[in-house]
Amino acid sequence: MINIAILGMGTVGSGVIRILEQNQQQLKDCMQTELNIKHIYVKNINKQREVDLSPYHLTDNIDDILGDDLDIVIEVMGGIEPTISYIRHFLNRGVHVVTANKDMLAAHLEELETLAAERQAALKYEASVAGGIPIVNAINNGLNANAIHHFMGIFNGTSNFILSKMTHDNLSFEEALQLATEQGFAEADPTADVDGIDAQRKVVITSYLAFNAFIRLEDCDVTGIRDVSLRDIKLAQALGYRIKLIGQASYDGEHVQASVKPCLLSDKHQLAHVENEYNAIYVDGDAVGDTMFYGRGAGSLATGSAVVSDLMYVISQLETKKHTLPPHFTLGKCQQQPGRR
Ligand code: HSE
Repeated sequence: MINIAILGMGTVGSGVIRILEQNQQQLKDCMQTELNIKHIYVKNINKQREVDLSPYHLTDNIDDILGDDLDIVIEVMGGIEPTISYIRHFLNRGVHVVTANKDMLAAHLEELETLAAERQAALKYEASVAGGIPIVNAINNGLNANAIHHFMGIFNGTSNFILSKMTHDNLSFEEALQLATEQGFAEADPTADVDGIDAQRKVVITSYLAFNAFIRLEDCDVTGIRDVSLRDIKLAQALGYRIKLIGQASYDGEHVQASVKPCLLSDKHQLAHVENEYNAIYVDGDAVGDTMFYGRGAGSLATGSAVVSDLMYVISQLETKKHTLPPHFTLGKCQQQPGRR
């Protein structure tokens, strides 16, 4: 029996519950163990939610969870404080953590990775970059024979959705943003989406994965889509271009150059045809060449899929008694010591 707690029950948390319930038998067969959701931590117990939480122990008292004996904590509550204090507490106790929290990770990844390694706890964060696309796993495992010097792509579903609706349905920026919020793609404060900050966080996390370089948020230049007008989009379209919010980073072995900004892409470019809440990321490996990862970058089930996959991975490691999870490892990581650059 694996005892877990879930911190937070918004869009992503609801997706996690839905997937765990929908695929219950399949997951049980696969994990070969019983999963016990011991607690769900929410700020407001009485709030009406998208999923039926009556079978679970809902609490607004974090001490119920901090003091309990747990194997894994799923953190989908977001924010930096007090969330990071809880995460430090669990990692310190050797409790494995699965998180979707790009805000916290972009600012504290180095500290949390170090703490997790010291305590031999897993810290998994597939859902923090590009929603349902398994890009973290792809870089860490699928591409670990490669030195990676460049990646680029569409990292924010909300801004891509807005640009798509402006391009194809002639919606205004405000109308498209409202639609994205209603569909659960936007952050609680959509400023982070439209000003490029959400994509900036994901570029920071991906730089660590790809180059083993802990860059700071301010090392990644950022311009959002707020000032992109319908007129800009239509003019670009008439000239055979699309406007997309592109996040990219390059690594020359010493320095990372990273940015997020609206770019003109030829309409023959593959990324020009990534529409709505979809994300797509090119990763250039020295052995494999160009690879491209495509899928839903936002939404309840897409992001929940990444969280549940991490959960299953951690359980598989516990079940095979490999309590010490391997650190992320790529050729790039072999070439230098982790450090801020
Ligand atoms: N608000 C984010 C986006 C959600 O639109 O991409 C997924 O990280």
